[in-house]
Amino acid sequence: MSAKPLGVGLLGLGTVGSAVARAFAERSRRIDAAAGRPVKLVSAAVRDPHKPREAGDVPVTADPHAVLDDPEVAIVVEVIGGTDPARDLVFAAFDGGKHVVTANKELVAKEWNAVHEAARIARRELRFEAAVAAAVPVIAGMRGLGAVRPRILRGLLNGTTTYICSRMETGRSFDEALAEAIAAGYAEADPTNDVDGHDAAYKLAILVSILEGRHFHPDNVRRTSLRGVSASEMTNAAARGARIRYLAVADFGERATKARVGPEEVPAGSLEGQATGPTNVITLEADLAARLVWSGPGAGGDATASAILGDVIAIARRSS
Ligand code: NAP
Ligand code: HSE
Repeated sequence: MSAKPLGVGLLGLGTVGSAVARAFAERSRRIDAAAGRPVKLVSAAVRDPHKPREAGDVPVTADPHAVLDDPEVAIVVEVIGGTDPARDLVFAAFDGGKHVVTANKELVAKEWNAVHEAARIARRELRFEAAVAAAVPVIAGMRGLGAVRPRILRGLLNGTTTYICSRMETGRSFDEALAEAIAAGYAEADPTNDVDGHDAAYKLAILVSILEGRHFHPDNVRRTSLRGVSASEMTNAAARGARIRYLAVADFGERATKARVGPEEVPAGSLEGQATGPTNVITLEADLAARLVWSGPGAGGDATASAILGDVIAIARRSS
């Protein structure tokens, strides 16, 4: 094992960043063993350095450039979210010769070409397993399918909306269920992104981009909000042996790919119908590979930290 530690700098120490920092504090031996060398969390940038957090003892700064400019930091983990200032910080990280790991589906989905080009020019890695389906290694899975012709990709790509639907089935109101999802750390900083489908559209666009080998912009995803769905519609669906879930669907037609996200009825006994809490389900039908299914926790600090640390470890292994 190389004795030289590989330094990691965090941009953001909220739900996801704190879970990453706790994992470094609590399981560094496991991380080092998987990486084949010591991996060290060096520092974290936040908006408010005085906010109390459960994030181990990582040094905190209000200046993201202090993290980016630190020669000890080789891998920048961006978990701020959104495009401003995350976009500029990610580009600055590549300019400074750092690898980038991000959970930021909005940035990757909208700026697919630019972020990949920045990584290519810098000769550094860009990894974003955490951006889609959190702990479920669906990005790695899709990357392994370069030879197939996809037919249909469908599933549940947003944990907050699955959580809301499954809680409304037990009698919670929409607002109560959303409040619970926010308290559990599943929702985006602005939960409009979850309930109006932006988050699922970003994730679907990323998966389609990987499968098609070119940028599929999230503006091409037709979005319908979950807000209009009432408790009585949930009950009526149940009476028909169905459930309402926030589905993401990409239909790879002969001429053009059609993509949509929105509430739809699914059979109660289907994988989507059985999904509760923040569970994600992704089913791909393709030639050669037939039908593939991925499922697991698609939101939450620990589930997302699992994917981020998997990416950090993969980079560390290659940097040994
Ligand atoms: P969050 O709890 O809102 O945390 C955001 C963090 O960014 C906070 O620590 C905040 O600082 C910091 N921040 C905001 N603006 C900043 C700035 N200008 N400079 C430095 N730091 C800044 O968000 P999150 O839930 O952890 O999500 C982070 C990212 O992960 C997003 O892209 C999200 O889509 C993605 N993601 C989240 C989940 C999930 O389940 N939550 C799952 C997968 C992917 P303060 O703490 O000081 O306010
Ligand atoms: N807000 C997102 C969700 C977090 O609910 O799925 C995971 O990307």
